[in-house]
Amino acid sequence: MTVAPSTTPIDIRPYRAADAEGWLTCRALSFLSTQYYDDVKPTRPLLSDGAVEFVAATSDGQIVGILDIEVDGREATIDTVAVLPGWQELGIASQLLERGVQPLVDRGVLTLDAWTREDVAANRWYQRHSFVEAGRYLHVYLGDGDDDAGFTTPDGLSGPVSAFVHGRIEDETDIRSRFSRVYVCRQYVRPLRTR
Ligand SMILES: CC(C)(COP(=O)(O)OP(=O)(O)OC[C@H]1O[C@@H](n2cnc3c(N)ncnc32)[C@H](O)[C@@H]1OP(=O)(O)O)[C@@H](O)C(=O)NCCC(=O)NCCS
Repeated sequence: MTVAPSTTPIDIRPYRAADAEGWLTCRALSFLSTQYYDDVKPTRPLLSDGAVEFVAATSDGQIVGILDIEVDGREATIDTVAVLPGWQELGIASQLLERGVQPLVDRGVLTLDAWTREDVAANRWYQRHSFVEAGRYLHVYLGDGDDDAGFTTPDGLSGPVSAFVHGRIEDETDIRSRFSRVYVCRQYVRPLRTR
């Protein structure tokens, strides 16, 4: 019998080494329908000491949500937040965030920020959780059919087959006319209350 996700109990708990494969699967499948679709990680990145790492797991151990937060002094950044398709819009990422923010507040971290492209779900999710846009720039891909004028490569190598570069938001119109894959990347920031 298939159990409807909304009736399945979910455990929000710290990440452990045995979650590595579930973490990778959750991340890859969650991002597949987003503008980060080709940002696939074959191994889980090692986070710095003090990072906050939570997962959402079903009672049979399936990882259905992940949240990693890097901490640098009084500032923290969401490195990854993702919920497996089929488990989205059930409040799982919100529960992960609530659990993830608490240790930051306890440690006196003052701000939590995040960077994301134009996907509606991600932007609405940040806005819903009191993140405010603090800036934006462009993610620009050089790919098939784009004009590679101005791109140079070292002697002995071909011209670029593909490239990923950053652009200024002021140049958006011009850049979009030259390249077919361009995204606005926004920084969201949320102040954290300290006790
Ligand atoms: C963004 C993401 C993590 C949200 O996870 P989730 O568990 O589905 O989110 P929640 O159920 O906690 O949603 C809370 C709020 O976010 C917003 N939201 C979530 N999904 C949404 C969607 N598809 N469309 C519009 N708003 C959405 C809503 O405001 C929602 O509040 P509401 O239910 O009161 O309206 C999930 O969509 C995901 O994994 N996306 C792919 C990975 C990604 O884009 N990560 C973040 C960017 S780096």
